[in-house]
Amino acid sequence: AEDGYELWLRYRPLEAGQQLRYRPHLAQLVAPASTPTQRVAREELLRGLGGLLGQAPAVADAPSAAGAVLVGTPASLPALAGLGLDLEGLGDEGYLIRSVELDGRPATVVAANSDVGALYGSFHLLRLLQTRQPLDALDLRQAPKVKLRVLNHWDDLDRYVERGYSGQSIWNWHLLPDWLDPRYTDYARANASIGINGAVLNNVNANAQILTPMYLAKVAALAGVLRPYGIRVYLSARFSAPMEIGGMDTADPLDPAVQRWWKDKAAEIYARIPDFGGFLVKANSEGQPGPQDFGRTHADGANMLAEVLAPHGGVVMWRAFVYSHEEPDDRHKQAYTEFVPLDGSFRDNVLVQVKNGAIDFQPREPFHPLFGAMPKTPLMMEFQITKEYLGFATHLVYLGPMYEEVLRADTHAAGPGSTVAKVVDGSLDGHAISGIAGVANIGTDRNWSGSHFDQANWYVFGRLAWDPYLDSRTVAEEWVRMTFSADPAFVEPVVAMMMGSHQAAVDYMTPLGLHHLMGRGHHYGPGPWVEGGPRADWTSVYYHRATREGIGFDRTTSGSDAVSQYAPPVAEVFNDPERVPEDFLLWFHHRPWTSRVSSGRSLWDELVHRYSRGVAQVEWMQRTWDGLRGHVDAERHHQIERFLAIQRKEAQWWRDASIAYFQTFSRLPLPEGEAPPE
Ligand code: GCU
Repeated sequence: AEDGYELWLRYRPLEAGQQLRYRPHLAQLVAPASTPTQRVAREELLRGLGGLLGQAPAVADAPSAAGAVLVGTPASLPALAGLGLDLEGLGDEGYLIRSVELDGRPATVVAANSDVGALYGSFHLLRLLQTRQPLDALDLRQAPKVKLRVLNHWDDLDRYVERGYSGQSIWNWHLLPDWLDPRYTDYARANASIGINGAVLNNVNANAQILTPMYLAKVAALAGVLRPYGIRVYLSARFSAPMEIGGMDTADPLDPAVQRWWKDKAAEIYARIPDFGGFLVKANSEGQPGPQDFGRTHADGANMLAEVLAPHGGVVMWRAFVYSHEEPDDRHKQAYTEFVPLDGSFRDNVLVQVKNGAIDFQPREPFHPLFGAMPKTPLMMEFQITKEYLGFATHLVYLGPMYEEVLRADTHAAGPGSTVAKVVDGSLDGHAISGIAGVANIGTDRNWSGSHFDQANWYVFGRLAWDPYLDSRTVAEEWVRMTFSADPAFVEPVVAMMMGSHQAAVDYMTPLGLHHLMGRGHHYGPGPWVEGGPRADWTSVYYHRATREGIGFDRTTSGSDAVSQYAPPVAEVFNDPERVPEDFLLWFHHRPWTSRVSSGRSLWDELVHRYSRGVAQVEWMQRTWDGLRGHVDAERHHQIERFLAIQRKEAQWWRDASIAYFQTFSRLPLPEGEAPPE
């Protein structure tokens, strides 16, 4: 059935003409299989080439025919050693793919310094076929620009995933360690195909039980499945675990008994999982325990854990998403205020993990002011793949353009060109470790992600974690070709749907820099009126701060002054209502309803215009998709068609509810031609 289970690794037979063109290049497979990673690479190639070409290549121990494909390392495959391949600079995860001549016969090599590099290269070779690239004259070199490319699963140990919209958690703790669901292997294949090399298995709002022997046995079993694919497991550690599962009366990081507890715990974990990646920690945020409960700093807490992991080669990913909902100051400022003074005081194996924006995975946020502001600390990017604030799994929203917008933003921290990507990959400040995390959208649904198009968000996350300088359109094209069809008459309109989809959602949910207008708690539909009353950190009327005169959150130097957390050239622009990008106008400014925007409209008219534009864009997606019926199997076409209908209905709901609500402040009529809210 065309249920999406195979993700982008579909390997359906290519068009007959393509098969004919490819076969001479892929006649024989020379791929050693003496380690688990070598075995999975060979299996994947046989499965993939067999499917795409209609027949698998012959397997041989040494190249003996034209069209041999050699896959391995100079150590695993001696035939590679004599080819003068330049493997230097590829590191321990990179690879090259090259067309060569062997004894006068054409051959293709996929070579690396490590088995996992060769595995990544094998997936790349398959991708070349899946996207119909020519295979003659290949000369490709790839190495990841970011070291830790990690999924964060917000799994609660009871099959529930916080903010998960794709069924239950894929981790079946109840049946582990004895039953290893084959899905775990397919999960690992999908991740390896895009270069993801780490998985934090449990929720940042962590249950300390995960660190007990019973659960560690389950974690070790999962680590065993993921290991051949180059994926390390990590765990979210609850800071108060020594009290909850250790019987202690404190978790003070400076207490020697607490330190000893964690040291023993680390030794216990590494005895079971020698390549354990380390801990992710959410501390002193949203009610979670942390070092501040004991009068200590984030650095004290992170360093204590880093100290016990260091001898084993593990890292601490310490989250900067900290705020207290009882704190009346602008939440935008809290992480910066707490963390910047700690720059330079973290141990070498600590990374501070920062969400892309300062509020919370909103449909669109300016980049987080911490990027560029902590040059002595490796800062990890934390993106959300699961669409908590973007219509869950129902709305078609491709996140590539949003990720790209943030990665390309210029922090000006070390002069122009100091992009967020350069901060994150460590090149700006010369860090030895670097990382990108994505909050996973994966669950037990047959299609893994709750909808077919949400698979693209998993895909683009992995591709950008590997290379944060890729452009999201290229990645979308690649994904569409692998997942649906390579017919340009299909690829072009579908990529256009994807590329416009993020702006569409921003328009019908939170245009012009508005944010956090969602229903409280579930974060799905509109709720700018804040049922349940105001909360301290929303500073009385949520973030939109609508009044009779105007709308928007004043974060200028005369408001909350969050702008001053950015480097001066950025701060100046954000602070100026004439120069701030219009997409962030109401993020930084409180503006009169009647003020003019760049279109020449009044702010009120522009707001209504954008809400309607978002709805219209969804209607356009519906029409476009309807016109593509013949290009894709009926099963997937139908589900996407139905989901777009839901999105259309809900975009209208967002528009109508928001306009009706804001109109109670503006008391202005709708611009001509605009339909009144229903
Ligand atoms: C958001 C989300 C929470 C989550 C938190 C976090 O606030 O709604 O469910 O726990 O982010 O990232 O820690």
